[in-house]
Amino acid sequence: MKYNISGKTRLTGLIGYPVRHSISPNMHNRAFQYLGLDYVYLVFEIKEDNLKDTVMAIKTLDVAGFNVTMPLKQIIMPLLDEISKEAQLIGSVNTVINDNGKLIGHNTDGKGYVKSLEDEGITVEGKRFVMAGAGGAARSIAIQLALDGAQEITIFNRTLDKAKEICEIINKNIPNCKVMTTGYEENQLKQQLKKADVLINCTSLGMAPHEEKSIITNPELLHTDLIVSDIIYFPAKTKLLQMAEDAGCKVINGVGMIIGQGALAFKIWTGLDMPIDYVKEGIFSNK
Ligand code: ATR
Repeated sequence: MKYNISGKTRLTGLIGYPVRHSISPNMHNRAFQYLGLDYVYLVFEIKEDNLKDTVMAIKTLDVAGFNVTMPLKQIIMPLLDEISKEAQLIGSVNTVINDNGKLIGHNTDGKGYVKSLEDEGITVEGKRFVMAGAGGAARSIAIQLALDGAQEITIFNRTLDKAKEICEIINKNIPNCKVMTTGYEENQLKQQLKKADVLINCTSLGMAPHEEKSIITNPELLHTDLIVSDIIYFPAKTKLLQMAEDAGCKVINGVGMIIGQGALAFKIWTGLDMPIDYVKEGIFSNK
């Protein structure tokens, strides 16, 4: 039997709760193996109460870097030594690098999304976006789109105040991007979608156990020049994407974003590009 772990193996991983279902170990360990890197990625179920001890342990054990997920993405921030600009604006961290004992927090969620668009040949600069949802993922994406030069972002959400909060952050910090909220009302949405380049679903509608649901129910709101993107990656084709495809739109699912955010974390830790095609091949297998 061949062991891949040596005395020099560097540890990376994921902290959060619950995290046992995560596809990140599969993604990163496949990439380490493919490139012959002496790293390993493990998952640790950590709740709020144990976060302080965990951060200390990470320094003591000289962990190379780690991902952070719910419920720790915000509360880890004051425990880190430095926070990148985008993570400060987004208000959460999903990736930390241990730079010789200095823990630096980043947020690769929004950048991962932008990368997934770029991989499809779509640039952000000067584009108009309509976004559904105003949770953590929407916040990361909206702020990154604004940072990357989006011309206009319209956000609609069941809880309008959360959408307004994202608008305020962008207005205050990235004034070149025009950002607004809109209601769920069909006519209002139709007006916004008519002039939009990309519609992004950042709600959980379409994901199990809501596979039969879609944030847009009337296909007449869509037009063939509209790119429809869903950050859900399972199922690979949500009801929204199926409807958009039938309406003649280009559609993009969430696989690119999940791999993109991982690839950017991988680059931060190792300085190397993740072998995306190889990682993609086996991303949902647990070998
Ligand atoms: P994530 O971290 O993935 O963004 P989240 O923060 O829980 O997850 O956000 C989920 C998003 O889906 C929110 O915008 C949520 O709307 P609210 O802000 O009003 O809660 C949206 N969402 C979830 N269930 C929904 C539903 N049944 N109808 C409409 N929007 C829904």
